[in-house]
Parts: sequence; C-alpha cells; structure tokens
Amino acid sequence: MTSNTIIVAILISFLVSKSNSALWFEQAYDHFNSSSNTTFQQRYFINDTHFKPGGPVFYLIGLELPLDEDYVSGKKLIVNEYAERYNGYIVALEHRFFGESVPFNHLSLENLEHLNTKQALADFANFKVYFDKQYNTTGSKWISFGLSYSGNLSAWLRLKYPHLIDAAIASSAPLQQVDQYPEHFEIVGQVLGKKCARIISNLTRSMETMLETKEGCHKIKQIYKTCDPIESEEDKTAFLYSLSYPVQQIVQYNNVPNGFSAVNVNSLCKVLKAGKNDPISSFAFINSGYNQLLGNNCTISNHNSYVKQLKIETVENRGFWPTLRAGYYLQCLEMGTFTTGESKNQPFSRKISLKYFIKRCKDIFGENGYRVPNTEEYGSKDIESTNILFTNGLADPYHKLGLLSTNNPKIEVFILNNTGHCADIYKDHENDNPELVSAHKVQFEFISKILNK
Ligand SMILES: *[C@@H]1O[C@H](CO)[C@@H](O)[C@H](O)[C@H]1NC(C)=O
Ligand SMILES: *[C@@H]1O[C@H](CO)[C@@H](O)[C@H](O)[C@H]1NC(C)=O
Ligand SMILES: *[C@@H]1O[C@H](CO)[C@@H](O)[C@H](O)[C@H]1NC(C)=O
Ligand SMILES: *[C@@H]1O[C@H](CO)[C@@H](O)[C@H](O)[C@H]1NC(C)=O
Ligand SMILES: *[C@@H]1O[C@H](CO)[C@@H](O)[C@H](O)[C@H]1NC(C)=O
Ligand SMILES: *[C@@H]1O[C@H](CO)[C@@H](O)[C@H](O)[C@H]1NC(C)=O
Ligand SMILES: *[C@@H]1O[C@H](CO)[C@@H](O)[C@H](O)[C@H]1NC(C)=O
Ligand SMILES: *[C@@H]1O[C@H](CO)[C@@H](O)[C@H](O)[C@H]1NC(C)=O
Repeated sequence: MTSNTIIVAILISFLVSKSNSALWFEQAYDHFNSSSNTTFQQRYFINDTHFKPGGPVFYLIGLELPLDEDYVSGKKLIVNEYAERYNGYIVALEHRFFGESVPFNHLSLENLEHLNTKQALADFANFKVYFDKQYNTTGSKWISFGLSYSGNLSAWLRLKYPHLIDAAIASSAPLQQVDQYPEHFEIVGQVLGKKCARIISNLTRSMETMLETKEGCHKIKQIYKTCDPIESEEDKTAFLYSLSYPVQQIVQYNNVPNGFSAVNVNSLCKVLKAGKNDPISSFAFINSGYNQLLGNNCTISNHNSYVKQLKIETVENRGFWPTLRAGYYLQCLEMGTFTTGESKNQPFSRKISLKYFIKRCKDIFGENGYRVPNTEEYGSKDIESTNILFTNGLADPYHKLGLLSTNNPKIEVFILNNTGHCADIYKDHENDNPELVSAHKVQFEFISKILNK
C-alpha cells in the first residue's frame, strides 16, 4: 500500500469504461461485534463463461482501489486463462471502503475504524460462504488470487480461513511489515543504473539548493508548474516527494504489461542523459508528461492544501480523493511501509523522512492518526500456512519485503530476476520475456497440483 501504487492503478481504472455488470452483496459491517447487524453493500463481478460444475472458483481479492468488470473480463489478467484451462468460475469482490463499496458512502473517522485487514478478510470469507450457496459452487475448490496489497490478503485469507480457501496465489506481496522502507529508493537507484541515478541525485541536490531561497522557489514554481506556492519545510518535502513519484513509478512498473509500458526505464534515462546539461528542464518535461497522464495540470507542492483535500469525508464527485483517503488510512493506522529517503545510497531527497509521513498522517486523521505497524499479526515472512504460491520480481523495489525463499515445503516461491511489480498477474502478451512465460507456467502447475489433490 503506497500512494504511488494507488496513483498508477487509479489511472488504469479511469481509463476503463464505467461498469454496468456489477452485482451487490449485503455484507456485515462489523464481523466482530455480535450485537451489531448493520450491513453495507459490497460490489462484485463474476464471469462464468468457462465454468463447468465441479470446476474451481478463482477468487480475485479486491485491492485498495475501485474494481471494474475488466478484472473478470479477460482483457487484463491471466486469471481468465486459468479459468479457461480448468473450467473455472471467476469472482472478484471489491475491498470494503474502496470504489463503490464504501459503507454509508462516507469516510468519517468513526466509519473508517472498520477499515482494517481483519474486517476485510472476514468480508472475503463471508462472501465465499454466501457465493457457494447462491451460485451452487459448494463442490468447487477456491483459489484466491491477489497482487501487491491484495497479494498479502490472498495469502492471509488462506492462512486465516483454510477451511474455506484451498490455495492462494500472491504476486509481489510485501509480507514483511515495517514502519518505513528506505530500500525502495535504493532499489530504484540500482535499477536506473549508475549514470542515470547520478543525474537524478544531481537534480535532487540542485532542487534542494533552489528551495533554500525565495527566488529559487519562485523559479521552481514556474518550471514545475506547482499547484501552490512552496513555503514551509513540509511544502519542500511534499514537492520533493512529488518529484520522486514519476521515477519510482516508472521503475516499479518497468516492462510490466499493465498498459503503460510506453514509458520505461530506458526511455526515462534516455531523456535524462540527453538533457544532462540542464537536468532541471529535462526532468520538468518528464514530470509534466506524468502530471498530464494523471490528469493534473500542476505538481503537488503544498502540504496544507494536500492535507485539506484528504480530510474531506464525502465520497461523491470527489474523483480519486476518497480512494487516497481510505488508502492513507490503512497505511497510517495499520500498514506503515512508508517509502522514505532516509538511506544515504539513493538518488532522492533525504528530507523525505518517516517523521514527515507521520506528521502527514496526524494532520489528516488527528492525533491518533498514526500507529506503529504490528508485525506479529500474520507471521510476516514466517507465514505458517500451506498451498500458497508467492511470486516476486527482483527489479521490483518492493521485493525485499516479499517471501523470496522458504523452508516450508508446502509453500512455493518463484523469483523473476528482471521483472517489476506484479507483472505476472497480467495476461500473456506476445512480447512477454521468458521469465514471465515461466512464471505463468509455474502458476498453471501450482493450480493443477491443487486441483488434483
Ligand atoms: C501488504 O501490502 C502493502 C503493499 O501494497 C504493504 O505496504 C504492507 O506493508 C504489506 N504488508 C503488511 C504486513 O502489512
Ligand atoms: C438485528 O435484526 C433483527 C431483525 O432484523 C432485529 O430484530 C434486531 O433488533 C436487530 N438487532 C440489533 C442489535 O440491532
Ligand atoms: C456493537 O454494536 C452495537 C449495535 O450496533 C453498538 O451499539 C456497539 O457500540 C457496538 N460495539 C462496538 C465495540 O463497536
Ligand atoms: C448444482 O450443481 C450440481 C453439480 O455440482 C448439480 O448436480 C445440480 O443440478 C446443481 N443445482 C442447481 C440448482 O443448479
Ligand atoms: C469472460 O471471460 C471471457 C474470456 O475468458 C470473455 O470472452 C468474456 O467476455 C468474459 N465475460 C464477461 C461477462 O466478462
Ligand atoms: C549536475 O548538474 C549540473 C547542472 O545543473 C551539470 O553542470 C553537471 O554536469 C551535472 N553533473 C552530473 C554528474 O551529471
Ligand atoms: C490548474 O487548473 C486550475 C483550474 O482547473 C487553475 O485554477 C490553476 O491555475 C491551474 N494551475 C496551473 C499551474 O496551471
Ligand atoms: C534467475 O537467475 C538465477 C541465477 O542466475 C537462475 O538460476 C534462475 O534460473 C533465473 N530465473 C529465471 C526465472 O530466469
């Protein structure tokens, strides 16, 4: 769960057409309060094209984003290929508090107390029981399926509800819980390569120097089209973090077939190297392209105005802000894993500190708006479970939090040496590299083993 994951995925979800094939489930609002029978409407999508009675159910776990019908339509994900091969049903349930599954359509703090992984996992379990009855799949094996944050949930669903979920696939799941994750920026630097990373470091230093003077700030405002003036120390950090986004993103999704492969590490570094003598302008070009892609006409640069947007509790007509608010809530109060600049060996600003992110959490959600993550809940990398396949790419900046090896003979891991975040969850493409082809083969073999048990 990170804001940058969120942003790119939002982008993707904005590009797809509005869903009209959504179905609704009446879900318990609080699974752990026996005297409450409050419910809310949770959205789901199904695809039974390939299903034959007795075939498995592939259960796509909703992520910290709106879902849409393309999660089951076969236009995006590999899961349809599994369904076709094994006569499977495809079911995708939206995560509570995201998309159109926001209880009472409101993100007040009181309501958000019911946004946590424990409640979310209980949703996925409860829905499974309902679905079997409603769709006559009682005889089916259930294999859950998730990427990144929902990869965590996919694995934890098998861990916590093994009587309901037969097996789990988890792509790029950062299982280890940490308050901050400075390695993200380090790996971004490594993937960029020495020369390219040095240009970014150089740019960061120049920016930091410019931010020290009024004239410098004014110049930055013009070149980078900042949304607001840069005044406080927090504004400087907010701006420097904004600048790191496009680079983080491009590296994280380098050659990942998610529809944005037009921009990759090679093309980024080409632009930077060509404009080496004026990195401030050449990077402004990249930054403005990225802003355009997001539909923004400016660069976020003001802490208070950013926080002000995130404090708003209403959902309707608020674009991607509600998704960000709910995402930050999960991150601030449960997940942590802030990507900070606290390491020396990385090209971005060291002003991007854990302290800054904690302050931002408290500014958004109040004095109690930050909790140190609890690493024990799901066993971290020592997850004690069976029938789970974890895949991770070593070019994914998050991979160090993932399960890369195990002594547990009932858990499988597969490593892609040169691939970014969640690449193996997408359907086959002609130009997939050989390790993606292998990853898909491993997934098919895993499923086949589970179904033959
Ligand atoms: C689960 O996933 C997200 C990445 O999307 C990560 O930030 C979080 O820390 C993960 N792990 C745990 C133990 O919460
Ligand atoms: C739960 O629902 C039942 C029937 O709808 C109702 O009789 C009961 O009072 C409700 N309980 C609570 C605690 O709201
Ligand atoms: C449990 O639900 C009841 C009925 O809705 C409510 O009055 C009570 O405050 C809830 N308890 C907690 C701890 O949320
Ligand atoms: C439910 O599925 C079973 C096979 O798994 C089939 O025999 C039965 O007719 C189905 N019932 C309905 C109502 O579709
Ligand atoms: C179900 O998936 C198949 C491909 O696997 C696709 O052709 C079909 O359009 C999908 N149906 C729906 C309702 O998404
Ligand atoms: C750093 O940037 C300056 C211009 O801002 C440039 O003159 C210098 O060559 C750059 N150094 C490297 C190593 O790219
Ligand atoms: C961005 O657009 C808004 C209105 O849509 C406008 O008020 C603002 O000045 C623009 N910002 C920049 C930097 O162009
Ligand atoms: C990754 O590299 C290791 C060591 O060089 C090699 O054994 C392994 O087969 C490679 N994996 C893939 C998927 O190509």
